[in-house]
Amino acid sequence: MKSSTNLRKRVLSGMRSTGKLHLGNYVGALDNWVRMQDEYECFFCVVDWHALTTDYADTSQVKRNSVEVALDWLAAGLDPEKSVIFIQSHVPAHAELHLLLSMITPLGWLERVPTYKEQRENIKDKDLGTYGFLGYPVLQAADILMYKADVVPVGEDQVAHIELTREIARRFNGFYPRKGVGGFASPTATPEELKRRFYVFPEPQSMLTRAPKLPGTDGRKMSKSYGNAILLTDPEPVIREKLRTMVNDPARVHLSDPGNPDICPVGDLHKIFSDQMTVATVDCGCRSAAISCVECKSWAADALVKLLTPMQNRRREFEEDPRRAWEILEDGSAKARLVSDATMKEVRGSMGISLEYEPGLLKPHKKPGITVFIDESGQSPEGEKFGDTVLHQWMDSLPAGIALKEIGSRTFLTNSRKRVGIASAREQSPQEWTCKPLDRATDILVLLLVRQTGQLLSFVLPQKLLQPNWKKFYRDLRHDVRKKGSVVRIPVRMRFSDFYLDIPDEQPVPITEFQDDFKPLF
Ligand code: TRP
Ligand code: SF4
Repeated sequence: MKSSTNLRKRVLSGMRSTGKLHLGNYVGALDNWVRMQDEYECFFCVVDWHALTTDYADTSQVKRNSVEVALDWLAAGLDPEKSVIFIQSHVPAHAELHLLLSMITPLGWLERVPTYKEQRENIKDKDLGTYGFLGYPVLQAADILMYKADVVPVGEDQVAHIELTREIARRFNGFYPRKGVGGFASPTATPEELKRRFYVFPEPQSMLTRAPKLPGTDGRKMSKSYGNAILLTDPEPVIREKLRTMVNDPARVHLSDPGNPDICPVGDLHKIFSDQMTVATVDCGCRSAAISCVECKSWAADALVKLLTPMQNRRREFEEDPRRAWEILEDGSAKARLVSDATMKEVRGSMGISLEYEPGLLKPHKKPGITVFIDESGQSPEGEKFGDTVLHQWMDSLPAGIALKEIGSRTFLTNSRKRVGIASAREQSPQEWTCKPLDRATDILVLLLVRQTGQLLSFVLPQKLLQPNWKKFYRDLRHDVRKKGSVVRIPVRMRFSDFYLDIPDEQPVPITEFQDDFKPLF
């Protein structure tokens, strides 16, 4: 890998270990990958565990099939000097990330995936009612997110999986933002930069492969399971024989019947693989019945032989020294593990299950709560205003069973019809906050205080506290506001680890015990 790699966008893609590849794999994906190698930092993964989701009953060919796939990749021009070429099962962290992501992936998301529904209906010769098969897209998400890929080149059928990957990433980022990177980012930070700073996973984009329709020898979509495929490894006589017997436009029964290359599968092959001269000759020769299908098919075979021969020569070198191919895969897997180690460290860290000893591990401590991300102008990575960001993030973190109905600006009603007012503030000088009081009286006052680290503290001040101290204070304040028209603020101070409302001319009111005490809100 070159040292400039960091500046390039990162690509990850994968193919299941299904053994030798066919022309459809080549035009649908592989030739595109080969071209991407110079522009992107590429990771290409032989996903053997994905192969197991359907072919779990007989695993005798999995390893061999992985190598066959890799040989076809190398033959087609994937270059281990430029790209990381590796095997999924050799990077066991994919399994760990898959497990962790499976914890947060709702079943409904998986049951709705179109490929899942289709395959459950169409594949009848094996039981796909397994946990692993349902989780296929979660494993794929782990493959992609592990490398924080920006771009995932895939065919149309995979777009839903990439969309799901983004949803899983978003959900992970929401639950487990990075630890220890709170505080205020530079005011010029873009939402993208903020996200990168605060969130573990970027959201990958799919890049649709320009996939011309590639018919198999029977005219249906080329697929190994239909038995209509032309393999990249088919020797010349086999290619010629497959082409000779390939279906053509059924209108051409006799040599004198004109045909239409736009509806003939051989015509499709010409458009993809033949030079423009040949395509033009076929087009007019077919429509005018000036050429025979036999001739036409032999020209298509010529084009395929021309494309595949150099690949087959390159493949032969690797076949003669299979250990070399294996070493390329081992090498790639070792490079991939460097990235996966770093990602898993971040993942475990943000989830609070890092492998390191933490001093004070057994000390009772307050729940760390949530961290609010805002830049100096008060924007969250999503571009919300400070007050709204804080409010929404706090609301999202509330225990189940609390329902707050909005009845006014920053004012809500609980299920038991108590009025809740919410005021937010961020730390100014160390451990000092000033909140703007609400313009109406409430039964409960919630203070949301954001520390300079971004940590969100919440205090649910109940009626019993507000009654003796607050009502009077509040009246005075409002009186003051009316009289002077000034903005009155509620000071909160932290001394050691205790919090006080610092009402002027009164004893400070301790509020520490109300931190994250949600009982009054039920
Ligand atoms: N599901 C993909 C397919 O069937 C294979 C795959 C697994 C993949 N993991 C991936 C593709 C990650 C792109 C990125 O084609
Ligand atoms: Fe197809 Fe070629 Fe025959 Fe036309 S001449 S029908 S394009 S095989």
